[in-house]
Amino acid sequence: MKALSQGLRVNGVSKVFQSARKVSRVALDDVSLSLPAGEVGVLLGPSGCGKSTLLRMVAGLETPTCGNIVLNGQLVEKPGRERGMVFQRYTSFPWLTVRDNVAYGLTINGDGTSLREGVVDHFLDAVRLSDVANSYPHELSGGMQQRVAIARTLANQPQLLLMDEPFGALDPETRWQMQSLLQSVVKKEKTSVLLVSHDIEEAIYLGDRIFFLSSHPGKLREEITLDFKSRLPAGDREALLSCPEYRQLELKIRRMMSEEKPQAA
Ligand SMILES: Nc1ncnc2c1ncn2[C@@H]1O[C@H](COP(=O)(O)OP(=O)(O)OP(=O)(O)O)[C@@H](O)[C@H]1O
Ligand SMILES: [Mg+2]
Repeated sequence: MKALSQGLRVNGVSKVFQSARKVSRVALDDVSLSLPAGEVGVLLGPSGCGKSTLLRMVAGLETPTCGNIVLNGQLVEKPGRERGMVFQRYTSFPWLTVRDNVAYGLTINGDGTSLREGVVDHFLDAVRLSDVANSYPHELSGGMQQRVAIARTLANQPQLLLMDEPFGALDPETRWQMQSLLQSVVKKEKTSVLLVSHDIEEAIYLGDRIFFLSSHPGKLREEITLDFKSRLPAGDREALLSCPEYRQLELKIRRMMSEEKPQAA
């Protein structure tokens, strides 16, 4: 089989944390997974199974205790511009306008003004924030603020967008809108995404594949590819929610979640 040089590879990664009292806690145990370039992968599993830890290691914010992580043939050793992270909570700079927030990464990376302006306009438009480009974040709703964070991260044109429950703090309606927006933007930009979610519907709607982690310690229990979605109209949530494959899969994942619960106590 041809080696996958493009895309993300997590190779036999384990993570052991030492507590203040020198007790070891195995957060992740020998996790291997591959995400082909251009796909959306979702890390799903019970609370405490190591989803955020794995995402932070891919971001280069934590180091694996064993194993390694490779993106497009390059070993991940520290944070890098090719991997952009969007956190659950709103993380833009309150003293900068929306436009300056989106331009921030490009400014510190020394990109020229005309190039920067073009990129900023493009991503403001992509997340539908052009009209509020000169507003400050505190003047925006939660969903708009999260769009600023997404536009700011996308403006750096990362090969891989990393998101840790990015819509968890939003109300259901805004969450739906944000999921649709994210889906259309990343498909258009051909950005790969690794997303942490608790939400089964979100995982099936957004994902090309789901990595289901079991807990104590976190292991890859099952990889689920969502090929059936290619027969449905792209991004059509109603068509997805009413198709039999969706309902079967949702039930299957709910069962997997409830099987994990006793161990998580
Ligand atoms: N910095 C740390 N020091 C010690 N233990 C940690 C640290 N970060 C995470 N852990 C432990 O690692 C395990 C996995 O945590 P992690 O935050 O990755 O889980 P999660 O799957 O993201 O959970 P949730 O869905 O609740 O966000 C947990 O048992 C947690 O207590
Ligand atoms: Mg987490």
